[in-house]
Amino acid sequence: MFLPLFAAAQQKPDWAFPLADKAQPPTQEDPAKLHTAPGSTLSLTRVQIDDIYNVPDWFPDLHPVMPKIVQHGNQQTKVRACGSCHLPTGTGHDESAWLAGLPISYFMRQMADFKSGDRKGSGTMTTIAKAISEEEIKAAANYFASLPPRPWIRVVETETVAKTYVAKGNKRLRHPDGGAETLGNRIIELPEEEEIVLNRDPRSGFIAYVPVGSIDLGKKLVTTGGDGKTDPCAMCHGETLHGSGDIPALAGRHPNYIVRQLWNFQHGDRSGDSNEEMKIEISDLTLDDMLVIAAYLASLAP
Ligand code: HEC
Ligand code: HEC
Repeated sequence: MFLPLFAAAQQKPDWAFPLADKAQPPTQEDPAKLHTAPGSTLSLTRVQIDDIYNVPDWFPDLHPVMPKIVQHGNQQTKVRACGSCHLPTGTGHDESAWLAGLPISYFMRQMADFKSGDRKGSGTMTTIAKAISEEEIKAAANYFASLPPRPWIRVVETETVAKTYVAKGNKRLRHPDGGAETLGNRIIELPEEEEIVLNRDPRSGFIAYVPVGSIDLGKKLVTTGGDGKTDPCAMCHGETLHGSGDIPALAGRHPNYIVRQLWNFQHGDRSGDSNEEMKIEISDLTLDDMLVIAAYLASLAP
């Protein structure tokens, strides 16, 4: 059963804001090792995979041709390639964000909010937004808006989860020593296939482990507003939660990302003019409400 927490537990949820652990398990990987993917012509070292000015394009057929800013960034202005963290398919990792199909005007507004400081919570995006040109933002926004959704997150209700650690790049991974622990009131997102995700290969995505019962609880809040606690999200995010006008889709997105954003709206870290409606919607939500909402949204087809 999903056990509600008490108000005292409303601390910033570190599971939704992953930060690399200070003590890292020893890495065994040989730096000269060449990584491959079946059906791809590429064969790359870890350093090449992590080159933030040259995104590994394992499967060019999975997406349109990337504009320069998405594939190579801009070395002159030190704007890193968007595709490195968000992937050429725009489906992203849990510690970054899903960008596929975001409305162009919403996308542009987020870049402006990161730049002005109205949107906080990502040092990387603030730095990028301050250095990137208007033309480059437009090229990236158009590219990501054109990308179709793909199944990316599998939600699993569970009481226990593998022991994990947060690796460099703020990426949560299974602990190499193995073992399991109680999930508690958290969402733990892990790669479906660790090697594929670490290779920034867009073939497969993530499993989101959520507390037992949370999908149904989330469905009630999202679809009814929970007896006045909030409003049905479909009022603004589209009948099927796949977006409406310049309001983004919520279905099938990384649940930890959704919790981060709800938390940020509530705590003033997303405070632009366009956030007024969301601030009202989430003012009465507890962290557990945010968790179950995110679990349900992630369980929907993107
Ligand atoms: C080093 C990793 C990294 C790179 C490179 C990067 N991003 Fe991001 N991006 C992030 C993270 C992390 C977030 C999520 C911030 C949060 O959780 O609040 C994000 C969020 C975003 C969002 C908000 C999405 C939404 O739904 O509101 C947009 C838009 C975005 N990035 C655009 C870009 C563009 C354009 C580029 C390339 C010029 C880029 N990003 C490059 C890490 C990155
Ligand atoms: C009255 C209209 C309205 C309602 C109802 C509403 N939203 Fe929103 N929501 C918005 C707007 C507008 C934005 C875009 C804010 C911006 O431009 O930064 C937004 C943005 C968001 C985002 C950020 C998405 C991203 O890509 O970063 C999340 C998450 C979100 N809403 C969740 C919800 C949930 C969950 C509900 C239902 C409980 C809900 N919203 C109900 C208007 C609404």
